[in-house]
Amino acid sequence: MSDRYLSRRVAGLKPSGIRKFFDIAATMKDVISLGIGEPDFTTPEPILQAGIRSLQRGETHYTSNFGIIELRRALAKHLEKMYGVSYDPETEIVITVGGSEALNLAAIALLNPGDEVIIPTPCFVSYQAAVILAGGVAVEVPSRMENNFDFDPDELRAAITPRTKAILIGFPNNPTGAVASRENLLEVAKMAEEHDLMVISDEIYDQLVYGIKHVCFPSLDGMRPRSLLLGGFSKDYAMTGWRIGYAAGPQDVIKGLLRVHQYMVMSAPTMSQYAALEALTSGAPHVSQMVAEYDRRRKLIVSGLNQIGLPTFEPKGAFYAFPKVGVTGLDDETFCNRLLQEQHVAVVPGNSFGKGGEGFARCSYATSYDQLEEALDRIEKFVRKI
Ligand SMILES: Cc1ncc(COP(=O)(O)O)c(C=O)c1O
Repeated sequence: MSDRYLSRRVAGLKPSGIRKFFDIAATMKDVISLGIGEPDFTTPEPILQAGIRSLQRGETHYTSNFGIIELRRALAKHLEKMYGVSYDPETEIVITVGGSEALNLAAIALLNPGDEVIIPTPCFVSYQAAVILAGGVAVEVPSRMENNFDFDPDELRAAITPRTKAILIGFPNNPTGAVASRENLLEVAKMAEEHDLMVISDEIYDQLVYGIKHVCFPSLDGMRPRSLLLGGFSKDYAMTGWRIGYAAGPQDVIKGLLRVHQYMVMSAPTMSQYAALEALTSGAPHVSQMVAEYDRRRKLIVSGLNQIGLPTFEPKGAFYAFPKVGVTGLDDETFCNRLLQEQHVAVVPGNSFGKGGEGFARCSYATSYDQLEEALDRIEKFVRKI
């Protein structure tokens, strides 16, 4: 189809590399997919029931644009308890259609045409797109495996120009599983202060960490007034299909996000807001169970990939392993294409996630232990052959 009718902004957007792989995988039989960026668990039962009950009560209408106040209050309490950062539930939190909407609201509300946003990459595929669609410029700063895929603060600093408006960070990271160190985050805080920048911190995987504590960016000294916290329920509580997330930040910034949100979607899905309220109320033990299972799989896949000869750094969060497939002599696209065609295992080429991802592949371990064992066998066969 021709792009003749599309705006230059949209026509210039690269289609997501993840989608391309799924479209191919969907036409094949017996594929093991390590390509999906979502929990394989069904939403925990009490959360599910809370959503159903809200429908049965007839809560099938719009809510306040901000989202139901009960959920905003519970979320404020949750963030205070987890990270010691406090938000006014009346004015400083907006409930969104997934973390995805929160990201796009942030970009639209903050950026003027040509404003630059510095993004450590590899990163979630939507970051660059959200910035570009809002008229901004995404400035990528690649991270390296030698630094455990944490960013280099000096390189971030070197990317700052008079047009820089914000730094957008996402840790625990999709696709690497990296968790930024407190020291590096403190460096971001310093540069934000020195150059009067906003920091957009996407912490959607905050509870999926292994043996370490998540640092919530706005909780760092002096950062709350210049940061926008993006979060959600999709990953932590296995609720991707409910489409529910949030943004929290200073009142004047949230006012801007809300204005966009009002015109775009009015309010997040009502039954999902009640389900999310239940997630905050009784979800913690379920999250712990899921984290324990992800951790078991994480150990299997990281040691398995390393044994096969694909160097893989030990991820500390999220549910992705990021092996260096370039050591086989194949580039990441070719590796992933051939692995899919020859062994029916779907993984995502690292270059889909921006600079710094080339030569790697994202393998999600949000799939059953048995499937992971089988996938590792197949990957081994493939690597031996080349
Ligand atoms: C880092 C990151 N942020 C945000 C999202 C968006 O999640 P959702 O819109 O389902 O809440 C994703 C989904 O893959 C992600 O990986």
